[in-house]
Amino acid sequence: MSEVSPDRSVSDVPLRPAQAEDSRRVWAWRNDPETRQASVDSTPIPFPVHERWFRESLARHDRRVYIIVADEQASGVVRLDISGREAEVSIHLAPERRRRGMGTAALRVLAGLAFESLGLERLMALVKTENSASRKAFLAAGFRVAAEAAGQTLTFQVFEKCERRPGRCCDSRRPAEDRSV
Ligand SMILES: CC(C)(COP(=O)(O)OP(=O)(O)OC[C@H]1O[C@@H](n2cnc3c(N)ncnc32)[C@H](O)[C@@H]1OP(=O)(O)O)[C@@H](O)C(=O)NCCC(=O)NCCS
Repeated sequence: MSEVSPDRSVSDVPLRPAQAEDSRRVWAWRNDPETRQASVDSTPIPFPVHERWFRESLARHDRRVYIIVADEQASGVVRLDISGREAEVSIHLAPERRRRGMGTAALRVLAGLAFESLGLERLMALVKTENSASRKAFLAAGFRVAAEAAGQTLTFQVFEKCERRPGRCCDSRRPAEDRSV
C-alpha cells in the first residue's frame, strides 16, 4: 500500500463520466477485499460478469457511473441508481487512495451534481453497520441516518441526503422507514 500522509485533506475532487475503457480498473476496485466485504454480496466478481454489467451500466438511463479523479488519476468510482427524483449511491475508492478525505469529498461533489444538474431530490445509501469508514464518510458529507435495516445475518444503516430547496425537500413526506435487504 502506498504511503498516506495523515494530515493531507482533500476538499474537492472532480468527477467524470465513466467510459468503456475504465472497465478493468473499476473491476479491480470492485474486487478489492474491503470493497467485497462492504458489499451485500461479498463474493468475488469474475471479469466477464463485471464486463457485461459495466457495459450495460454505461448504457442505462437510470444509472450514472462517475470516475473520481485526483491528481489527474482515476482514483475511485461513484454510482447513482436513479428512480424518479431519488437515487441510491454507491462508492468505492482504489485501496491506495483511501483515508485521505477523498471519499467524503467525492460524496459531497456527487450530491451537488445530483441535486443541481440532475434535478434529484433525495439520495440514499445502504451501509453495513460494521463499515465505519463508509458511515463516517457519509456523515461527513452531510448525509444522515434515516433508518436501520436488517437482513438475515447483516445489519445496515440507511443514509440519506435531501435537496434543501424550499418546496423540494423530501424530509416532510418521508419518515425514516425500515427497509429489508
Ligand atoms: C468507504 C470509503 C469510500 C471512504 O472513503 P475514504 O476516502 O477512505 O474516507 P475518508 O478519508 O473521507 O474518511 C472518512 C472518515 O472515515 C474514517 N476512516 C477512513 N478509513 C477508515 C477505516 N478503515 N476505519 C475506520 N475509520 C476510517 C476517517 O478517519 C474519517 O473520519 P473522520 O470524519 O472522523 O475524520 C473508502 O474507504 C472505500 O472505498 N472503502 C471500500 C469500499 C466501501 O466500503 N464502500 C462503501 C460501501 S457502502
